[in-house]
Amino acid sequence: VSDGVDRRRFLQGGAAALGGAALALGGRAVWDETRSAAEAAERPDAVGRATEPSDGPRQAGVSTVPQAFATWVALDVLDGVDRAALTRLMRIWTDDIARLTRGRPGLADTEPELATVPARLTVTLGLGPGVFAAADREHLRPAWLAPLPVFSVDRLEDRWSGGDLVLQVCADDELTISHAVRLLTKGARTFVRVRWTQRGFRSSPGSVPPGSTMRNLMGQLDGTVNPVPGADDDIVWHGSEAPAWLVGGTSMVIRRIAMDLDTWDVVDRGGREFTIGRRLDTGAPLTGSREHDVPDLDAVDELGLPVIDPAAHVRRARTGDARERILRRGYNFDDATGTTATDSGLVFVAFQRDVTAQYLPLQRRLDELDLLNRWTTPVGSAVFAVPGGTRTGEHLAQRLLEPGTG
Ligand code: HEM
Repeated sequence: VSDGVDRRRFLQGGAAALGGAALALGGRAVWDETRSAAEAAERPDAVGRATEPSDGPRQAGVSTVPQAFATWVALDVLDGVDRAALTRLMRIWTDDIARLTRGRPGLADTEPELATVPARLTVTLGLGPGVFAAADREHLRPAWLAPLPVFSVDRLEDRWSGGDLVLQVCADDELTISHAVRLLTKGARTFVRVRWTQRGFRSSPGSVPPGSTMRNLMGQLDGTVNPVPGADDDIVWHGSEAPAWLVGGTSMVIRRIAMDLDTWDVVDRGGREFTIGRRLDTGAPLTGSREHDVPDLDAVDELGLPVIDPAAHVRRARTGDARERILRRGYNFDDATGTTATDSGLVFVAFQRDVTAQYLPLQRRLDELDLLNRWTTPVGSAVFAVPGGTRTGEHLAQRLLEPGTG
């Protein structure tokens, strides 16, 4: 049965038409096993063959529905690499990214077989402060493109912080990512050196219903309240008010946040839900019953105490000021090796037009007061400008680097 026919039957006849495969349990739809199994049998490589476009007015990997896996590679520009050399690097990367995202080998690909599974690969380029100096474009560096101030909760380590450039490589298959990262960094050796690499994951495709909010390693649904692509584009994307290179661009903040899962483990369920202000099972606010219910910050219990604590994460992170909103697109990391010590947490990635106006007020509020701070510690921090996308024939950051700009 084709996709369309399946969907039509479902719409016409509801669950019964599918032989009762789609059930409702406790008010929640349950993943339709029959259908996904049938689909998988029909197109066993459907996940691997799926692609995301690499060119367009905006780079992919920001509004793109998050893929299951991500790797961020931060790079530093080598001494002596100037604007002309950076332009050469951008040409190589743009070409290789276009090929890889279509499931074709890169130009100098020594493992072409590994390139045949695009799995919704996206590669997003970010520019750190240092690249503006190397390219003699310091005068075009946005004021917000600088390291974040150090917050009282921070325990930052150099090995997870900073960078002149970043490549955010996402896909639904780790093999695809590994190959793309190797090809892109290998081809860049004469221009840049790797400063740090971070890897993150969400649920694999097919293991949870499409559109589900991800769970982080504290067990919470993470990403419920987020800007909606299209409707909330102003929060994320620069338009014609920006300099040419930043039109269709944004900024990317990457914070590596460690979680102390050993001490979180001993907190009872009530305490964990109190910390966030939402329930662990459904992700609903403590004042509601469904994930997307709006939290009622004025609600009080029978003793007159606020149901959502004044220091709960959602209350502190929530803002009535639309200009302070951000797009969160983080991934879990888990590098734990021992039985007790944990090296796990969240690669917290935020996209917004302006770091100073949007990200900083929020981060400051959380730094001042947030129950979650007891279990979370930022250990890495980096800020990048994401230039606009590429039209056919154009290379990444062309409007920043080409002669005559600025
Ligand atoms: C490891 C660290 C963090 C964890 C585990 C975490 C977890 C959560 C959870 C479970 C929610 C509620 C569900 C949702 O709307 O996503 C939430 C909401 C939110 N978080 Fe975090 N968070 C972390 C760090 C941060 C940081 C560093 C920021 C920003 C600087 C932030 C900003 C937000 C925002 C804006 C919301 C939505 C608030 C609303 O409008 O309801 N979070 N977070």
